[in-house]
Amino acid sequence: PNPERDRLLQAYEWTAKFYHYLLKNTEHGKAAMDYLRQRGFTDKMIDLFQIGYAPDTWNTLVQFLSRRSFDLEEAEKGGLLTKRSDGGDYLDRFRDRIMFPIHDRSGKVIAFAGRILGEGQPKYLNSPESKLFNKSRTLYNLHQARPSIRKSRQIVLFEGYGDVISAWEAGVQNGVATMGTSLTENHASLMKTMADEVLVCYDGDRAGQAAAMKVIPLLENVGLNIRIAVLSDGLDPDEFIRKYGAERFMRQIIEGAVSTTKFKLIYLKKNHILLEEDGKIAYTKEVLPIIAVLPSSTEREVYLRELSSELQLSFDSLKQDCNEIRQSMQKNM
Ligand code: GTP
Ligand code: MN
Ligand code: MN
Ligand code: MN
Ligand code: MN
Repeated sequence: PNPERDRLLQAYEWTAKFYHYLLKNTEHGKAAMDYLRQRGFTDKMIDLFQIGYAPDTWNTLVQFLSRRSFDLEEAEKGGLLTKRSDGGDYLDRFRDRIMFPIHDRSGKVIAFAGRILGEGQPKYLNSPESKLFNKSRTLYNLHQARPSIRKSRQIVLFEGYGDVISAWEAGVQNGVATMGTSLTENHASLMKTMADEVLVCYDGDRAGQAAAMKVIPLLENVGLNIRIAVLSDGLDPDEFIRKYGAERFMRQIIEGAVSTTKFKLIYLKKNHILLEEDGKIAYTKEVLPIIAVLPSSTEREVYLRELSSELQLSFDSLKQDCNEIRQSMQKNM
């Protein structure tokens, strides 16, 4: 039993309800509600994900918590409040932000991510780590995704909260996201306890695709199968769904997810001009080692054939180069 922890959980639960109420039922929340609607968030998703609004005031939450006899010092240590730098009064930590509650895997609120309305920095303000909240072990929406993960043995990994929510509505009920930070080994091990496969569905911009490249070894190391969704035009999953609809998202992006090898080939292609000889050769040099490490010769053949037709190079010469790379790799092992 840990009474301080239980009290903090209580405070988070009440605060999430309060923010959700302010968003939906008060004049304070009107601009935030307009913002959410204009982005396409439905009432159903706002309720399911318990989205809320922290008002543009200094002590609305302070008053709310003290009326309910919560210890303000505990609430400050737990990340809900801050203290004036001169050591004076307690203040609300989150002001004028859309509030996304973060739940632990049993569904208890343990933190918030607060988004600014519109443009501005920081775009997201997260709760600090606390007795309840450890960023590197937390996955957004895991509590709601668990039944679907258990059934499918698959997890869909997104970058952002909005992506998880839009994808949920589009039909992806096994979606989670990390909390702004990159994926850790802890996250990977946690996912391995629940699933056999992770479908990485990161943003289509350069940063997102680079981040997808980075998570591949982390997920491989714990023995998870990996598929990667390829988003184009720099769109993120949320934006793709708003622009092209749920059906096309499910078909093209989720069902069309590719192997890690295929993804690496697509990713590295962007650095080269394949119409020029130099570009072709440089690209081939980069990708052959990726194909050469594949244990199955059938698999190697599949990618070599694709490469051959795409680059208009003979399959035999590609295969020969690939085999040479493979042999020199084996020698070095
Ligand atoms: P929207 O603009 O609301 O659609 O957010 P997004 O999820 O598309 O954000 P973006 O692709 O820019 O960033 C991906 C994720 O990185 C976000 O969901 C956050 O978890 C995190 N992130 C982005 N900006 C910030 C920031 O300013 N602070 C923190 N702590 N995290 C951020
Ligand atoms: Mn509700
Ligand atoms: Mn992004
Ligand atoms: Mn994004
Ligand atoms: Mn987005």
